[in-house]
Amino acid sequence: MDYIFLLFGLGVFGYFSVKFIKYKSLYPFMPFRYNFGKRRKTFLKTLELLDKTKAKVMIETGTSRDGLHGAKSDGAATIVFGKWARLNDAFLHSVDIDEKSVDAAQKEVNAQRLNDYVKIHLSDSIAFLKKFDKEVDFLYLDSYDYSNDLAVQVESQLHHLNEFKAIEDHLHGKTIVLIDDCRLPNGGKGKKVVEYMVEKNWKVLVNAYQILLVRKDFRF
Ligand SMILES: C[S@@+](CC[C@H](N)C(=O)[O-])C[C@H]1O[C@@H](n2cnc3c(N)ncnc32)[C@H](O)[C@@H]1O
Repeated sequence: MDYIFLLFGLGVFGYFSVKFIKYKSLYPFMPFRYNFGKRRKTFLKTLELLDKTKAKVMIETGTSRDGLHGAKSDGAATIVFGKWARLNDAFLHSVDIDEKSVDAAQKEVNAQRLNDYVKIHLSDSIAFLKKFDKEVDFLYLDSYDYSNDLAVQVESQLHHLNEFKAIEDHLHGKTIVLIDDCRLPNGGKGKKVVEYMVEKNWKVLVNAYQILLVRKDFRF
């Protein structure tokens, strides 16, 4: 009987240990209860580079439609980078074509008291980026949803490439670019834009679920 209890205890311990190891929090930057899963490593590296480059102007395409609840699924980047903006006197523009996404993200921005540091714009991202008239220190591409449908995949890849082209002239030597949802069938959202960027003298710093890029001659 004791033997059975011991085995049960070990099983429970093993289960919770694996759960704990797989739990990817950004604590202490974000509360421990939010699990950022596959984006944790690239978010941490990006936050480190934002600190080093003292970024001020930040853009995200595709806003946090599930607020912080979407930490594991979508990334909740609007809140993560919005919080970094508040701590560093920077500003994040997040643009989304869908009114529902904008409303939900705005609610979370209000709840987190990030209004002075984050503006959510309702627009197609490419139209928004074409009109943007400042130098950009950080660009996060995460709009047109990827799917299993090949036609959608190609459209999504083209959209992210065209987002980059629309703002390319406003990027400088220390701009940081992060692209979401890349480790997916057929190359994910970043396939075409990363190919284009590498031809244009950008280098991949981290190649994971998200791809992080800087200029080839970037020193830090
Ligand atoms: C994956 S979610 C963004 C997640 C968010 N970056 C986060 O970290 O929580 C993708 C969003 O892109 C938006 N989107 C799709 N096509 C777009 C377009 N052409 N322009 C701007 N936003 C678009 C969708 O409405 C959706 O809210």
